[in-house]
Amino acid sequence: MSERAGGLLHGVRVAPSILSADFGRLREQVLEVLAAGARVIHVDVMDGHFVPPITVGPLIVAALADAVHDAGAMLETHLMIERPERHAEEFVKAGADSITFHAEATPHVAYTAGLIRGAGAGVGLAINPGTPVGALAEVTEAIDLALCMTVNPGWGGQPFIAHSLDKLPRVRALVGADVAVEVDGGIDPHTAPACRQAGASVFVAGSAIFSAPDPGEAYRAIAASLDAL
Ligand code: DX5
Ligand code: ZN
Repeated sequence: MSERAGGLLHGVRVAPSILSADFGRLREQVLEVLAAGARVIHVDVMDGHFVPPITVGPLIVAALADAVHDAGAMLETHLMIERPERHAEEFVKAGADSITFHAEATPHVAYTAGLIRGAGAGVGLAINPGTPVGALAEVTEAIDLALCMTVNPGWGGQPFIAHSLDKLPRVRALVGADVAVEVDGGIDPHTAPACRQAGASVFVAGSAIFSAPDPGEAYRAIAASLDAL
């Protein structure tokens, strides 16, 4: 794994998702959350096939990489695309420090994990709300992060799926203490602490941060809700 991703994914982190940012002021918005203390910036890549919307590709990763790295932070790329093995290396070349792909999106999970690790990036494996935790079981040695989706992927601003709180302890038990457990979807100062107690360590938040009037302050509110535990 890249040195940057290795260090940063080990702690408790709030990861702002730029999906809900104002793309006309994207760099400025990212600088705001970096200044507030964010060290993991989450980029949602959607292909119009694995999920209906189409969002951004390697060009946006490349456009943000210097600003993120200069702040001592990392770029996490969440690939909601079919056949991620065909595109993962391109995202690493663009500056992504870790690549998270979906177990549902390829028959070649172990191969894709190896490809990403070989390219020098951190490896994340994501599972949808309806996917059993067993999808992670045979590759726990090959991943640095397990993403337990807490909404169905594709859109920001959806409500947190409460069943995730049942599922997270099983994810944590399966991957062990050395793999980061990430939650993504409906995360705010109320749901983040509950997820932390259920075993999560990395907390992606899009609308709770970038739909707020002051994204830096909204970032700090989620971080404070976790510090208060
Ligand atoms: C959804 C994306 C998320 C999204 C979360 O498919 O993976 O990262 O930005 O948005 P919120 O935090 O608004 O639920
Ligand atoms: Zn995401």
